[in-house]
Parts: sequence; C-alpha cells; structure tokens
Amino acid sequence: MSQEELRHGPGLKYSIREGLCLEQKPEPCGMVIFGASGDLAARKIFPSLQGLGQKGLLPENFFVLGLGRSPMDLAGLKSRLPGLPNLYYLQGDYTADSTYAALGSRLKELAAKHGTKGNVIFYLALPPGLFHDVTHQMGKVSLLDQTRGGWSRVVFEKPFGQDLASALSLAAEIRDHLQEPQVYRMDHYLGKDTVQNILMFRFANSIFEPIWNRTYIDHVQISVLEAEGVGRRAGYYDSSGVLRDMFQNHAMQLLALVAKEPPASFAADCVRDEKIKVFKALKPFDERGLAERVVLGQYRGYRDEPGVSAASQTPTYAAMRVEISNWRWEGVPFYLRSGKSLRKRHAEIAVIFKHVPHSLFSQLAPTHLDPNTLVFRIQPEEGVSLTIEAKKPGPKTCIGALTMDFDYAEAFGEHSPDAYERLLLDVMLGDQTLFPRQDALEETWRFIEPLLHASLPLRSYSPGDWGPEEADRMLESEGRSWRQP
Ligand code: BG6
Repeated sequence: MSQEELRHGPGLKYSIREGLCLEQKPEPCGMVIFGASGDLAARKIFPSLQGLGQKGLLPENFFVLGLGRSPMDLAGLKSRLPGLPNLYYLQGDYTADSTYAALGSRLKELAAKHGTKGNVIFYLALPPGLFHDVTHQMGKVSLLDQTRGGWSRVVFEKPFGQDLASALSLAAEIRDHLQEPQVYRMDHYLGKDTVQNILMFRFANSIFEPIWNRTYIDHVQISVLEAEGVGRRAGYYDSSGVLRDMFQNHAMQLLALVAKEPPASFAADCVRDEKIKVFKALKPFDERGLAERVVLGQYRGYRDEPGVSAASQTPTYAAMRVEISNWRWEGVPFYLRSGKSLRKRHAEIAVIFKHVPHSLFSQLAPTHLDPNTLVFRIQPEEGVSLTIEAKKPGPKTCIGALTMDFDYAEAFGEHSPDAYERLLLDVMLGDQTLFPRQDALEETWRFIEPLLHASLPLRSYSPGDWGPEEADRMLESEGRSWRQP
C-alpha cells in the first residue's frame, strides 16, 4: 500500500495512512489438537491454521499432530489441511494411559525432527467434561512440565464451568498441573477485529476519551443477535441457555472493553486487570425489581428442536440492564441483549450520547435532535459509524442525521480474518491479552449466576422477530429504544 491511499465509498472518502504494525514472529513449536476429527477442528482450527500459513505467520519450524478417537488416517487429516506441511495423526482414547505414553514419545520424535525445541501447544477441542481427565493425564506424563525444556501451553474452549462453583472446581483441577501463564481460555469474540478496535479507538485517539463517561454518554447498547436457531447443538445448548452461552463470556467481555479505564500499557495483565475492575464494579442483580432489569425469552418452536426437552425452560434470548457503580459510569445504563432465531445476524456496540443541553432552533426541542451515536459493528459488516446532526443542503434550515460510516472491508480492501486466526497466533506468541483470566471468569459467574436461579418469567417470541416485546418495553419504560439493525 502506498504511504497514503484514498478510497471512495458512497459519499465518502477514506484516507488510510500506512500505520504501525506490532508484529512478532512465533518461536518454533508443535501443536497437538485433541478432537482433530471433530467439528470445531474442521470449522475453526484448521481453516485458521491454513490462513496463518498462507500469510506466512506460522513459525518456520512447526508441526501439527492431530489426536482423535476416530480412525481418521493421515490422508484424512491432510485433506482437511491442504497445503500445510508437517501433519501427523494419532488415534487414541482420551482417558487411556496408553494414549499419553504414545503422545509423549511421538512428541519427542517430532520435536527432534522439526527442531521445535520442545515447545508445544495442546489445543483441547473437546467437550468440557474431558478437560480435567486430559489435563491430568498430560500432567502425569510430564507433558505440561516446563522444566523439561521448552514451553507448553494449553488452549481450552468454553464453557468454563456451568456456574461459579463448577468454574472454581475446574480451575482447581487445572491449577494442579498448569500455571496461569500456560492457560489460554478461548473467547473468540476477543479475537474479532472490530472488538479489538475498541481499544485502539479509545486509547489511540485523544478525542474520544474525554467524553467517554457519564457526563456525555446517555447509555450503551450491546447487541449480539443471531439468526440461526440452536441447530445441531441442542444437547449442549439446552443445559446451558443464552446466559451461560453468550452473557457470562462474550457479552461481559464486550462490556468490559467499552467500560474499562485506560490500562497502564498494552501488556496482557495490565489490560486484563482493568477488566476485572469493571466486573467488580457491576451492580449485583437484586431479586426485587429483577423483572424490570432482565427479560428472558425462548423462541417458539425451540422445544420441538431435536435434542431439546419438550418442557424446556432454557432461555434462548436475554436482555438486561446492567449498571456499573464507579465514578465514570454511575447512572449510565448498559443494555445488553442476545438471542437465537432472531431476524438478522448482527452484533454491535452502540454508544449513545446525551442530547444537546439546549436547542437554538426555536421549533425544535433538544430531544427532537437525534443524539450522537457511535457504533462499533462487530459483524457481519464490520465497521464503525458516527451519527451527527447536520444541515441539509438548501435555502431552508433543515437539520437531519448524517451517519459517517467506515466499513472495514471497503476501507482496507479485505475482510477481517476469522477471530481464531488471531487467537491461535497469540497462543504461539505467548500473548494472553485477548484471553480471559481466571479471575474474570469468577467475577462474571458471580454476576450472572443469580439470574440462573431467579424466578423470572420466560417470554416467548417468534423466530424471525427481534425478541420478546417485554425487552422493548424495558427500554421504553426509561424513554429509550433498542436500535434496529
Ligand atoms: C459461541 C456460542 O460461543 O458463539 C454459540 O456457543 C454462538 O451459541 C456463537 O452461536 C456465536 O459466534 P459468532 O462468531 O458466530 O457470532
């Protein structure tokens, strides 16, 4: 790209100046993928490894050892990862000692062959019920011991527990074998480009931070809307529901990025420390008045989905009003919503500023003017937009809302890579910035858990709607409304 490039969108020009890239090359390492014949490996891990390979971001000395229960042969693995060299496959039962003995000797052999210095990543693309056994087994044969030479890191996929107590017991089991710097908990929302952009936006510019507080911001809306229903994942989903599946992790992480204080540096623990402070400042849900703060819903037809119990009370939608009790945010509601089987797949964070204090325009009250709104569009059309009031051309005094819209794909001429690409690279680099730390899990469970046991009505909504109308009323009762994508 030239030093400065102009791109033209409809009614807009983007000027992109080549910026700074904080680039590092990962050290030599091997990657063991547990669950290599499974769905997650096929949908996310393999394509991301390929993407990294195509961009030249994999270490020069690198190998992938797939491990699975199915008798997939090496040719099967190669067909899933075309173009990637140094692939191996090991079939084994995850609970059998013999699997780990075989894994240990295979890793020694491959480390020597590929010069990976004993550095290894274990990716547990497995049902959470196996996390403990697999970690324990690996610990028993010293695969996680970093004093043997080389580092070892373990990637876990959510869910990290079903509630606070189970999250704590899982953590205790993991701690027997791993130090926190070895643990990478995937929250793939943190690897999405526009999510990362929130920090750049807030802390690499000087014009937003001074107004990023209760004096100027009226409220924040965080929406993660999905068009798909529960699909083939009913077995997992029906025992989880939207609060565990989307709120305890993704939605809480998004909230923390918007609300946190500037970290002292971009070092992983500085960034994560500030999130914890936000979680600690969340105003706990109170049984009294809870129905005015939280709406749960289930789409019609959910109970007929294969694998869902006919009397299921599992919410597939939730909307909530969250408050942060600190100097920056006191009195500013954060409205969060997420659900399945809605009209459109759309995820965004909208920061809605306060109305002007006084209108100069005699027939117009301040509330007639649209409030300035800054939107981070997370997906599908990633971008940032800012709505301002402006004069319409012509001799009359007409004011209208003008939206300045920056579209990632249009501006940079390419779509963002899958979040897993970025996160896998970070595991190789040993950068934990985008991975939730254990204390974050504990704080977010502590906050969400009371809702799991609360006696809240379960509202129904039609597939293809925007969710239950009670969620609309929740905002209307405060003189606000959900943004419709
Ligand atoms: C996962 C949830 O973490 O995120 C799924 O378990 C959900 O239920 C998915 O569909 C949404 O991710 P994305 O990237 O498609 O928005």
